[in-house]
This record gives sequence, C-alpha cells and structure tokens, in this order.
Amino acid sequence: MSAPTDVKVARGLEGVVAAATNIAEVDGEKGKLTLKGYDVSELSGRVTFEEVCYLLWHGKLPSRSELDELLAEMRAARDLPAPVLAALRDIAPHASGMHVLRMAASLLSIGDADVDNLDPDASRKRAARLQAQMPALVAHTYRIKQGKDIVLPKPEHRLAESFLYMLEGTEPDPARADGLDAYLVAVSEHGLNASTFTGRVVISTNSDMVSALTAAICSLKGPRHGGVPGPVLKMLDEIGPVENAEPYIRKELAEGRRIMGFGHRIYKVRDPRGALLSDAAEKMAQGTGDFALLNLTKAVEETTVRVLAELKPGRDLYANVELFAALILHAVNVPSELFTPCFAIGRTAGWTAHMIEQLEETKIIRPESVYVGPRGLKFVPIEQR
Ligand code: COA
Repeated sequence: MSAPTDVKVARGLEGVVAAATNIAEVDGEKGKLTLKGYDVSELSGRVTFEEVCYLLWHGKLPSRSELDELLAEMRAARDLPAPVLAALRDIAPHASGMHVLRMAASLLSIGDADVDNLDPDASRKRAARLQAQMPALVAHTYRIKQGKDIVLPKPEHRLAESFLYMLEGTEPDPARADGLDAYLVAVSEHGLNASTFTGRVVISTNSDMVSALTAAICSLKGPRHGGVPGPVLKMLDEIGPVENAEPYIRKELAEGRRIMGFGHRIYKVRDPRGALLSDAAEKMAQGTGDFALLNLTKAVEETTVRVLAELKPGRDLYANVELFAALILHAVNVPSELFTPCFAIGRTAGWTAHMIEQLEETKIIRPESVYVGPRGLKFVPIEQR
C-alpha cells in the first residue's frame, strides 16, 4: 500500500449509522431487541410467526381477519410454479445447504410477471409470496437431494407445520412445530445486520425484491453471520461430556480459532434471543425428557464466557443467537445442513420489511472508499513485463 491518507476508514462500517428504521431496535448494552415497538420477549410464545410477519410488513399486529387474509395469501403462494420445480430437480442433486438455497431463491421471479413493480402494496404482497415460498425451496431441495419425492404443501398448515410436513412427509408433531415457530419468531428480524444491509443496498438501486432476497441469502451464509449453527452443533458434539468443555475451549483459542456462537458486533451482553430459544428448547425437553444437549449447551456457555473473559478481556464476548439456534433446531430434528437455510426462512420476514422501508428512500446506498494504491505508473508493453 502506498499513498498514505489521513482519511479514517470505518473498518467493517463499525459505528456507522447507515439508515433510519422503524422496524427493529437492537440495544447492545442492555441486551434488548424491539420489533415495531414490542420487546421481543413480549411477543415470544404469544404470537405465531405469521403474526410477526404481518407486524413487520404492516407495522401492527393483525386483527383476526387481517391474519386470515395474510394466511390465505401465503397459502395460495406456497405451490411453486412448474418451471421452478423442474429447475430444483436439476440443481438440487449437485448442491446443498445455502448453496442450493441461493440458486433456488433466484428462481422466484419465475411466475411473478409483476416482479419489477416496487410499489408499497405490490411489495407487501411480494414479501408474503416470497416468505411463503422459502420453506418449499428448502424442503423440496433437501428431499430431492436425498433421492425422495417432493411433498406438496397442505393448505391447512401454518408455515412452521408446512415446512416440517414438506420436509418429512408426515403430519408434524405439534410440539416440534411450536418449537420451530418460536425459532422463526426469534430470528425474524434484527436491524441492520450484514444480510439485511445487503438486501437494502440491492433494493436501493431499484432492482427487485427477488434479487435483493438472493443477495441477502448470499450474505447470511458466512460463518461470521448466519452460517454458524451447524458448526455449533459440531462443536457440542466434539466436546461430548461437560468436563471436556474447558480444555476444548482453551485449545481452540490457543490455536487461534474463534468459538462459534459467541461474540456479537452490537451485543456487549448476552443476546436476548438466547433466552427465548433456550426457554423454547426447555419446553421441548420437558416433553421428551431429553435434557442432555440443553444441559451441555448451558455448561458450554458458562465455561466459554468465563474463559473468553480471562483470555480476551475487555472484548465483552457472550453467547449469541446461534448457540441456541443450534439447540432448538436440533430438538426440532432439522438436519444440521438446513440450520442456516432455516435462519433464512425466518429472516425473510425482516429482510423484506427492510426492503419495503428502503423503497421509501429515493437515494441509492453508495458509500465512498479512499484509494490507497499506487499512482503514476507508466505503461509497459506485455513483452517487457
Ligand atoms: N471467539 C473468540 N474470540 C472472539 C470471538 C469468538 N467467537 N468473537 C470475537 N472475538 C475476538 C476477536 O478475535 C477479536 O480479538 P482481538 O481484539 O484480540 O483481535 C475481538 O474479539 C473483536 O473481534 P471482531 O471480529 O473485531 O468483532 P466483530 O464485532 O467485528 O465480530 C462476530 C462479530 C460475530 C463476527 C465475531 O464475534 C465472531 O466471529 N463470532 C464467531 C462466529 C459467530 O458466532 N457468528 C454468529 C454471529 S450472530
């Protein structure tokens, strides 16, 4: 690098306020998450995921008739168009997890002749359509990859039930569907994280919601964002008995690796979604009598927070949502390859709400960079390089 500069670069855009939003407030000091004015703990266990979708898209909890209308709209959109199904059959055997979801999501403009219409009403309808289609993309591609026939959705199922039904082909157990619903509510929205920002950047060019959704999925995939619950489960598996937790964590840190499911750009305390998910996991464990993974996760959290405070003092590293996401999704019996795709299903609600909000802003998102490369180089013909 040459051309030193006194311009200060905000590494990772840390501390930069890039949007005003009325969708979510993430209070990293107090460990509070507010969705459209409701503390998330006020909603958790009391509303279904679809009610949260309505809240995020319309700014208020729905009345019974408004919810019925949304449910009807989403049910009508669940069946994927034939060309989308044909493409899924072609691509699913060759890819998995977020790779296949990325390809699959980009197909969702098929069957939407109005996809470039960015009006608020059309965008809300498109949000409901995309939200309804995401579970089918994940479930169908998984089954195709397993060499199984796809299972078409049933109209009477709510979204969480529908996903499990399409995935497994049997009527979903209500406790598992409730656990998944609680998970989807907990991950539905979280302010201007990397994937939401990505979606807002894309829609700020007046592109379209399918493109913005696909881009958001690409951003979510990475292990510094949503790609972690699979590795978290692997870590818990590798730790095995509780007494191995401390040596395992110390070894990982000594070898320069980060502990998955810990640390957060905004939260300097425990992620509030952790408590919601651990409560939901506890409820499920009471039903099954299997507390093993829940107890191990709690012990690993206690140990890791203590060791991180000792070895990384002042960094305020606590458990993030992904630690408990792994726990609840495992309890629901979702294959670990689908953990991050499930996150994408839930976060589609928040992504699309942000896209709708961003569309009210007429200014394209276009930050600046400072050039730190060489200048004044002279051309040299290819033979002489
Ligand atoms: N394990 C060990 N150390 C960690 C850590 C973790 N999980 N998370 C952060 N740190 C350390 C970093 O090594 C760094 O230490 P240093 O000051 O000695 O260099 C310091 O904490 C700050 O890290 P930084 O990457 O600047 O923080 P960030 O706010 O930009 O990053 C995450 C946030 C989420 C990307 C980061 O905490 C992380 O990689 N976590 C693990 C992956 C994860 O759980 N992802 C899911 C996020 S919801």
